[in-house]
Amino acid sequence: MVGADSTARANVNVALVKYWGKRDTVLNLPATGSISLTLDGLGTEAAVAFGGGGEADRLAIDGVETTGGEATRVTRFLDLVRAAAHRRERATVAMRSTVPRGIGLASSAAAFAALALAASRAAGLALDPPGLSALARRGSGSASRSIFGGFVEWHRGERADGVDSFAEPLAPLEHWDVRTVVAVTSTAPKTVSSRDGMVRTAASPFYPAWVAGAEADLAATRAAIRARDLEALGLVAEHSALKMHAAGLAARPPLVYWRPATVGCIHRVWALRAEGVSAFFTIDAGPQVKVLCTPADAPRVAAALEAVPGVERIVTCRPGRGAELIT
Ligand code: PMV
Repeated sequence: MVGADSTARANVNVALVKYWGKRDTVLNLPATGSISLTLDGLGTEAAVAFGGGGEADRLAIDGVETTGGEATRVTRFLDLVRAAAHRRERATVAMRSTVPRGIGLASSAAAFAALALAASRAAGLALDPPGLSALARRGSGSASRSIFGGFVEWHRGERADGVDSFAEPLAPLEHWDVRTVVAVTSTAPKTVSSRDGMVRTAASPFYPAWVAGAEADLAATRAAIRARDLEALGLVAEHSALKMHAAGLAARPPLVYWRPATVGCIHRVWALRAEGVSAFFTIDAGPQVKVLCTPADAPRVAAALEAVPGVERIVTCRPGRGAELIT
């Protein structure tokens, strides 16, 4: 018999203070805490049903039956859910991205947050929010933050078993209406995954400085969010992103996620600031540039970034909601 089907939806998030480096690679425990903003309209839906008598889990992504690396990652994640729920049945999983296709932002954060909620419910587990966040973390570290809407902090935690490493809401999305303007500079698949990039960066001579600076960035970011101070938030977000990429640049072999248009966008954002527009960038493990600004300035920021040579597309996001059950 096929068990109860559960479907959940979750959005991607953009890190304002980055997670980049692990203290435990198996449990996905971070070397530092991180803070993010969940984004509206860029997400994933996951439908999960256990049972049906199959010998293996079945995964379909956007309607296409999928095997290989992605399916293995989902099965490993479902194994954690099965172990917690004392169940053995294989599952049927259908994932559908609500992220516009081909923008290089189909982040695993939304996927594993949606999967954590749908799979835990389908297996009969009723996890509290920290437990759900810790489960999502096992699929992809940043997924721990996509469980919640608005501004979110993921705690590094101290324990070796990781039970104190989960995310919590810092401020709900109603607290502060900022816009995130995403400049898509390349839709080519990335050459180095976050997982591999973090391992490589851990041997960078700049990695100890990266880790040592995190607590100060977290404190400044919490205060900026509380005070709704865009300049304070933006400056620390830029600093965190540049330090993360600087540590990667100094790794061997070096890690360079930027394309020429990425650098073009950085300079355009600084030029906008010189023109009096409060706009601040951040960049994750890829070439896209995400720019924080006020709702009033968003059209001007979008137009300026669209004119940067090499920018393929612009998407503007409001703060988004956390993971939700649909059925
Ligand atoms: O969650 P992962 O393993 O995809 O790593 C995410 C890493 C960054 O996006 C670069 C930073 C972050 O905090 O989300």
